[in-house]
Amino acid sequence: MQSTRRNIAIFASGNGSNAENIINYFNTHDNGELKVSLVVTNRPDAYVIKRAGSLGVPTAVMDRQAINDPGTMLSVLESHDVDIIVLAGFLLMVPAFIIEHYHDKIVNIHPSLLPRHSGKGMYGHHVHQAVIDSGDTETGITIHMVSEEYDSGRIIFQKAIPVEPSDNAESVERKIRQLEAEYFPQVIHQTFARHSS
Ligand code: GRF
Repeated sequence: MQSTRRNIAIFASGNGSNAENIINYFNTHDNGELKVSLVVTNRPDAYVIKRAGSLGVPTAVMDRQAINDPGTMLSVLESHDVDIIVLAGFLLMVPAFIIEHYHDKIVNIHPSLLPRHSGKGMYGHHVHQAVIDSGDTETGITIHMVSEEYDSGRIIFQKAIPVEPSDNAESVERKIRQLEAEYFPQVIHQTFARHSS
């Protein structure tokens, strides 16, 4: 029987806890449908390289120029049979040719309830600090399709949690990371498993 498996490339710039969770999830929920075949990073010192390596997933370290070069980038993705792209803490803009080539096949996670706290510079700790500074009474995660503008594609999933008066940016970040671990792999699964498209 011909394989119907679809391969995921995770793009990540740093720590890679989401990448690790997603790789583990599809290794343990292996129904032959989805698998992580590649991690792409723009940082040669990114910790995600170690995490992916220890789980047997190859990493392509590519600088901004290589990522923005259609010939180089698409041939790397094609050589790993990539069908779906997951952005998990990827800090560069995804070039338009990738968005066109992988139309409706790219998702991103943002650690706030979009449209709150989005745009350039709004990543990681900066987002959680902005939540505290704004006095928001709730925050959460948003998983969305990627369009050519930062953090603005179609929203697939949001999960909100309360911000308590005793919270600070660190405690909010811990709670958000738990939400990411719990929901991101499942939402990718539901979005891209064959029966859902
Ligand atoms: C996560 O909080 C994610 O929401 C975001 O960047 C962070 C990446 O963390 N967009 P990690 O590299 O997956 O640990």
